[in-house]
Amino acid sequence: MNSTDPKIRLRPAQPSDTPVVKEFLRTIWDGEDYVPEVWDDWMGSESGLLVVAEYENQPAGLGRLRDLGWGERWMEGLRVDPERQGLGIASRLHEFLLESWLETGGSVVRLGTHARRKAVHHLCERTGFQYIARLGDVSAEAQHAGHGFTLAAQNPPALSFHPDQLNLVSARGEDLMDLDWAWACLRPERIGERFHSSLWNWRDEGAWAVVHPVQHEPEGRLLVQAFRVDADHCLPFFSDLRRLAFELGCKGVRLFAPFDLAQEAFWERAGWTRDPDEELVLFERRR
Ligand SMILES: CC(C)(COP(=O)(O)OP(=O)(O)OC[C@H]1O[C@@H](n2cnc3c(N)ncnc32)[C@H](O)[C@@H]1OP(=O)(O)O)[C@@H](O)C(=O)NCCC(=O)NCCS
Repeated sequence: MNSTDPKIRLRPAQPSDTPVVKEFLRTIWDGEDYVPEVWDDWMGSESGLLVVAEYENQPAGLGRLRDLGWGERWMEGLRVDPERQGLGIASRLHEFLLESWLETGGSVVRLGTHARRKAVHHLCERTGFQYIARLGDVSAEAQHAGHGFTLAAQNPPALSFHPDQLNLVSARGEDLMDLDWAWACLRPERIGERFHSSLWNWRDEGAWAVVHPVQHEPEGRLLVQAFRVDADHCLPFFSDLRRLAFELGCKGVRLFAPFDLAQEAFWERAGWTRDPDEELVLFERRR
């Protein structure tokens, strides 16, 4: 269905929306949603289009299209007031953001959603997005011991790619990296940029990881933004990442792992835990 309900109206967000939006966001995911924390930044940001959906002249939903550079856009923050769900508001927001992308440029737009969020999967399928990956949320405590990582030269770092190595996500032959709740092409220029992420080589095996300490995680965790490793070396590689986290002053390490690897037994052996409730699916649409 393509909702044309005249009670729904889309427009750029305004500062006066803040109280109503924050009020309904409090009732989503038991108040655990991150959007209230970033709302003010989103409002002031020039690298994203923040859109509000009104229902009967009251803010009832929001969504954002972010410019990640290099022709890549990211759709995020799709939320509808629980009192107004099921009325086609998310559909209209999604379509509006997609239209904005089509009008303003960029070669690709991506989004991530929970594996169980069927309404969003449906919207993606209906509007020409393609499924690109399913990821599992895995984490471990930091461990005090030596590790096989050495910091690679920066500006720009050399990234080696062997076709038979495991990585985080590939989309049409390109590796993606985790920019902390946004996935985009792994580019040497993105390492060191903005997130101060760094590239670490592992042993002499041609394996590597791009990591960034994330302060907003509860205990200051090391986010693994990208990696490449031979299947045979996965266990010691992921064990060593726990030790690298310790060296970098983090209490733990976290990554969204490709689902092939995200099997409980593997992570247990490596001393990591997979959160069975957190499964993410990535979609993209290209021109
Ligand atoms: C997910 C959410 C945004 C959906 O908002 P909504 O306004 O209720 O959604 P809509 O009524 O516009 O429905 C969206 C589409 O999904 C379809 N849909 C709804 N439930 C579905 C289901 N269980 N399976 C498949 N499709 C479904 C609808 O028919 C509609 O498709 P259509 O436009 O082709 O008819 C809303 O429930 C929400 O804010 N949830 C909490 C936050 C969240 O999960 N955000 C998404 C993060 S990616």
